[in-house]
Amino acid sequence: MNQNTYFRKNFTPSVYLVTQKFGSQYTPEQLFRVVRDGLLPGRALYPRLVCVMTTWCTLKCRDCNNLMSCYEHPYHLDPDLVLKDVEKILENIDTLTELELIGGEPFIYPDLDKILDRVLSNKKILFVSLTSNGTVLPKEDILKKLANSRVRIEFSDYGVKTQKLDELTALFDRYGVKYDRNPDLCWVSPGGVEKRGKNKVRLAKEYKNCFAFKYCSTILHGRLYHCSRGAHLTDLGYMDCPEDSFDIHAKRDRASFRRDLKKFWLFPYTMACDYCDHALGNKVPSGVQVGKEEK
Ligand SMILES: C[S@@+](CC[C@H](N)C(=O)[O-])C[C@H]1O[C@@H](n2cnc3c(N)ncnc32)[C@H](O)[C@@H]1O
Ligand code: SF4
Repeated sequence: MNQNTYFRKNFTPSVYLVTQKFGSQYTPEQLFRVVRDGLLPGRALYPRLVCVMTTWCTLKCRDCNNLMSCYEHPYHLDPDLVLKDVEKILENIDTLTELELIGGEPFIYPDLDKILDRVLSNKKILFVSLTSNGTVLPKEDILKKLANSRVRIEFSDYGVKTQKLDELTALFDRYGVKYDRNPDLCWVSPGGVEKRGKNKVRLAKEYKNCFAFKYCSTILHGRLYHCSRGAHLTDLGYMDCPEDSFDIHAKRDRASFRRDLKKFWLFPYTMACDYCDHALGNKVPSGVQVGKEEK
């Protein structure tokens, strides 16, 4: 991995996010920030961080990548600890193109207001997104905070009966919240949680071809993981590879933080791929519920 890889993992995805995903809402200043912090020596740009707020979910999807249906005792994370993790990373970089707030289901997280206030007041974050299964109508105070030019909601339209997407999108239109409704989601079976025993060459090849390679760095309990599945495999006790994640709060100065973060970010593989079948590309219908053959 070299400077070219760093560019491909930071600059190119950031330009894509700003001009495509947030194409209808970005400002020239936001694009300038990406160009400046992605190209100038000594500046640090990170394309996307995924921040887990809760493992509670209102659905139980059989093939959930993030293993939410495996939590026997789901929990909400302490908002102060969540913010401490995010802010520690932000202190040490110049620009984060997108912060995704995720669960489980983000709209059942009781401290979402606090998280939104703090992350939206941090100008190092260009955009904040939330991915929701569209089963819960947020309260008015949350809707008002979401009606912000830097926020975008991604609704996963699984076609499950308990989803309220027509009601939700009408509500969001009324409050001026920007969203995408994503039907026909192409899901791939991640397989079981057992270790497969792949070699490093194969792990590197699979990681490089996965969405996670550029877009899925996930924060959970003071550590940064290469992908959300890896974070939850560890949290659930199926994977135990501390060297596979970045300790956000380890004692180090700013220069060492940046150096170690870059080293983590450019590491050629993640052990999470050894617990995942994504590379096989076996398509499955999205949102099939545990114990049911249909939605
Ligand atoms: C784990 S969900 C959490 C957010 C929310 N509960 C939802 O379902 O949208 C985050 C994203 O992962 C996607 N996802 C989950 N399992 C997947 C799989 N097996 N293949 C592809 N995408 C998957 C979901 O469609 C969603 O866009
Ligand atoms: S994919 Fe399904 S189970 Fe997983 S977090 Fe989203 S709604 Fe919940």
